[in-house]
Amino acid sequence: MSHPFITVKEVGPRDGLQNETQIVSTEDKVKWIEELADTGLTHIEVSSFVSPKWIPALADAKDVFAMLTRKKGVTYSALVPNEKGLEAALLAGVDEVAVFMSASETHNKKNINKTIQEALVILEQVVQTAKQEKKQVRGYLSTVFGCPYEGEVAVSQVASITESLLQMGVDEVSLGDTIGIAHPLQVKHIMKEMEHVLPKLALHFHNTRGLASANVLAGLEAGVTTFDGAAGGIGGCPYAEGATGNIATEDLVYMLHAMGYETSVDLAKLTEAARFMERTLQKELPSYQLKL
Ligand code: HMG
Ligand code: MG
Repeated sequence: MSHPFITVKEVGPRDGLQNETQIVSTEDKVKWIEELADTGLTHIEVSSFVSPKWIPALADAKDVFAMLTRKKGVTYSALVPNEKGLEAALLAGVDEVAVFMSASETHNKKNINKTIQEALVILEQVVQTAKQEKKQVRGYLSTVFGCPYEGEVAVSQVASITESLLQMGVDEVSLGDTIGIAHPLQVKHIMKEMEHVLPKLALHFHNTRGLASANVLAGLEAGVTTFDGAAGGIGGCPYAEGATGNIATEDLVYMLHAMGYETSVDLAKLTEAARFMERTLQKELPSYQLKL
């Protein structure tokens, strides 16, 4: 059986660094993103245009974009929660904006201080403006596989919000296992329920319980061809209790290549890029490839 090409999206500079207590300098962020771009990655989430009071670690989003030397063929994106964030992101020259909300009310409220209904209204306007500006738009849906405050989340709720995001004009929805609670059979079940929109879905696993790679396998078997990772395995959502890092991108790429899937990424270069962040943060990162 021939394998489809898998798109690997790097979220370390955003999801990874947003949850670090240590503030990485703008210069080191830029160096890291440039090094990541040299590995063959085609999508890099650079930062977030959110309130600096809420996410102090990414308060320099504008400066990161200004200092960055961009590589042709790489899409540089950023998270935006509202019109104010979109305006700043457009001024910074993002290639793609990523809007985000949760499938559970409590996490949505804790993370962006809005109800789900309010968020949908705000995001509709953001997506419309971003599209008028000819930007690619990604939509993140968090707590798809479970919420730290509400527990189980109904698949019907996930399907309905995903549908709303797609109707707004979002190009792709990344389903987030925000607190790393998903298991492979659940992934299989949810993907089956969402089969009709599968080509527009990406999966975003955090590795809190060590199941991220098993969940990636379930996603692959269901036909998903886009997966997120954070180099080094750093990250987590500061407004989701117990959240830890994403699957390390280098562990994800190792697994994909070992299984015969093709990606655009050079694993050795990616592992070196992850090592750069390990040196910068001066602590051992969760990645397995970094321990070899
Ligand atoms: P709020 O306090 O309700 O906002 O926060 P507000 O509209 O009332 O404004 C309050 C202040 O924030 C004002 O400033 C605004 O100007 C400012 P003040 O008058 O007090 O000086 N403000 C902004 N500043 C900069 N950029 C903006 C912006 N908007 C308002 N865009 C808000 C609402 C959404 C802003 C806030 O809750 C927020 O920034 N939240 C971001 C939280 C976040 O980034 N979480 C992590 C990312 S999500 C995630 O990690 C999950 C994911 O990885 C997928 C998964 O794993 O599941 C994507
Ligand atoms: Mg995340």
